[in-house]
Amino acid sequence: MNRASARNMFIGATVIVSAIFLYMTVLSLQSLPERANTGNITEGVAWGKKVFERHACIDCHTLLGEGAYYAPELGNVIARRGEGYVRVVLETAAVQGWGTTRKMPQFDLSEKDIDSLVEFFIWMGKINTSNWPPNIEG
Ligand code: HEC
Repeated sequence: MNRASARNMFIGATVIVSAIFLYMTVLSLQSLPERANTGNITEGVAWGKKVFERHACIDCHTLLGEGAYYAPELGNVIARRGEGYVRVVLETAAVQGWGTTRKMPQFDLSEKDIDSLVEFFIWMGKINTSNWPPNIEG
């Protein structure tokens, strides 16, 4: 192979690989609204997110892997624990008998706040994250 054909091969391969990369980027961006589940954000989901922020739940928990690692991931908590369990935690956290070594504070949440948080977690569980974060509890 001489210099000219090596150069042509380099340029050709770069163009082809760049085109494939661009095409895949466009495909990823197009699928984002559906994967992000944005069409299903109800008033309850939005309120649940506000409650989550007002009480700084992220100071101990993660959502989709982001946050603090003191307490369990909550983006997939409905799938892992079920809605009933989540409600009981929010109602009785820090009550004697619940919790092992690490305790969760009692926030005295209203019924509306608890309903909205559950709605928020259900909505978040339907975001297509390609199974991220992995369920390390097995
Ligand atoms: C000070 C740290 C802290 C804060 C702030 C906190 N939590 Fe927790 N939370 C914990 C700990 C620790 C556990 C695990 C307790 C256990 O398993 O014994 C937990 C467990 C949970 C669980 C059950 C998760 C599971 O997989 O079992 C839910 C749901 C939850 N918290 C929701 C919330 C919400 C909603 C907020 C904000 C309103 C919040 N937490 C704020 C520490 C915290």
